[in-house]
Amino acid sequence: MSSSSFNLVTRIAICTTILLLAQICLFYKNVCGNQLQHHHHHFSSSNSSDLIVNLPGQPKVNFKQFAGYVTVDQKKHKSLFYYFVEAELDPSSKPLVLWLNGGPGCSSLGVGAFSENGPFRPKGNILVKNEHSWNREANMLYLETPVGVGYSYSVDITGYDAVSDAVTARDNLVFLRRWFNKFPQYKHRDLFITGESYAGHYIPQLANLMVQFNKKEKVFNLKGVALGNPVLEFATDFNSRAEYFWSHGLISDSTYKIFTKACNYSRYVSEYYRGYVSPVCSKVMRQVGMETSKFVDKYDVTLDVCISSVLSQSKIISPQEQNGESIDVCIEDETVSYLNQKDVQKALHARLVNVRQWTVCSNILDYELLDVEIPTITIVGSLVKNGIPVLVYSGDQDSVIPLTGSRTLVHQLAGKLGLNTTTPYRVWFAGEQVGGWTESYGNILTFATVRGAAHEVPYSQPARSLVLFKSFLESRPLPQML
Ligand SMILES: *[C@@H]1O[C@H](CO)[C@@H](O)[C@H](O)[C@H]1NC(C)=O
Ligand SMILES: *[C@@H]1O[C@H](CO)[C@@H](O)[C@H](O)[C@H]1NC(C)=O
Ligand SMILES: *[C@@H]1O[C@H](CO)[C@@H](O)[C@H](O)[C@H]1NC(C)=O
Repeated sequence: MSSSSFNLVTRIAICTTILLLAQICLFYKNVCGNQLQHHHHHFSSSNSSDLIVNLPGQPKVNFKQFAGYVTVDQKKHKSLFYYFVEAELDPSSKPLVLWLNGGPGCSSLGVGAFSENGPFRPKGNILVKNEHSWNREANMLYLETPVGVGYSYSVDITGYDAVSDAVTARDNLVFLRRWFNKFPQYKHRDLFITGESYAGHYIPQLANLMVQFNKKEKVFNLKGVALGNPVLEFATDFNSRAEYFWSHGLISDSTYKIFTKACNYSRYVSEYYRGYVSPVCSKVMRQVGMETSKFVDKYDVTLDVCISSVLSQSKIISPQEQNGESIDVCIEDETVSYLNQKDVQKALHARLVNVRQWTVCSNILDYELLDVEIPTITIVGSLVKNGIPVLVYSGDQDSVIPLTGSRTLVHQLAGKLGLNTTTPYRVWFAGEQVGGWTESYGNILTFATVRGAAHEVPYSQPARSLVLFKSFLESRPLPQML
């Protein structure tokens, strides 16, 4: 098996994007460590210096934006970068929502805020208003976590070593407590945590720490958790992709058979991260990779790929016309170029420490990849037992974490918790059209699909995702036909 197809498959598994640009820091810390900055910064605990006056190219808006750093570890000088967008109307009456992207190691700023549900999307040198921005319903806090992601950094480069789910959850908790010192009026606000993909690990573990913390001292007013195409139980989630590929025509009958019988995907990933891939798994993955091809977006099997991004990895010259469709499949290129503009970094109060460029997914972070095998569905169960409402939603065109695995996991969890079905499996509506399907258990645990949506749901179905988000915040069942 060639190393490039290895890389591709691995990235499909772990990262929220296959469209990674060429790695800037080829030798990771060995090269980048030389850039270590020795001057340390001191961050004020007031929010006034974090206020964004104006992002280059942005239209005029009536809401406030803030961006800056919160130090989570003084010894190693670990600082996490956030971007906070107040609600468009009447922010003081709206909840606070923390958004986290996955990876592990991908940016909530670049993916979440600028490609999914933030107020703007970059296009050339300007920012276009997103009419379905989630700040229509909430005050949105985007956090680049853990250190090494986006503009977040550790001055002491050992801070990038062996970063685990546990370290990430702890740093996120410290971040939020200190962020509340900057924004005291949000401290007692209704708080929701949302995100996608590997955030299926980050969010339940963070929420669980909050619940534990609250038992000693009630600090976090946690009202609910929403997980989009999340990794919740590694084997169920990863093995559902074989059937998804097969039923969507991406692989043949015979390949489906070997992908389920000879070597399934969870076995392959588990071998890969232990540094040994058996010949049988190599062979199966080569066949799967050949048939699915890299010219289909695995995060939405109906979408075209951004040719420039794919080519930067595959180095095949094969120019293709842009066909004027409404979804910008090259949004990631736009974001990378925008967030690397010096004037943008200045406006965001952002710095590059130990890296030369802002990247969508980190090249410097050394994450404990075997943590992917920790089953967070059980943590979701304990959140529900503690009275925290949970929504698991799935973009139904995603083959990376397919809806079928998530639906099975939620259904099984409801059974284990003894929760009866309170909303039987039914369609829900966004406007006059079906937005997807939903089922609720015990009025506290909900599963929903979003029809026609990618792994990054708000990216390809912004209007439907906003309907889903609003229902979630109001803890109402998804809309039925009028
Ligand atoms: C900024 O900090 C000041 C002083 O603590 C506080 O009164 C104000 O509410 C904060 N602004 C926001 C948007 O939270
Ligand atoms: C995947 O493969 C492993 C190892 O061969 C096996 O234990 C597991 O049952 C398989 N899972 C599925 C869903 O086939
Ligand atoms: C769930 O349904 C079963 C069977 O209808 C019933 O016996 C049980 O009381 C219900 N549980 C709750 C919590 O409503």
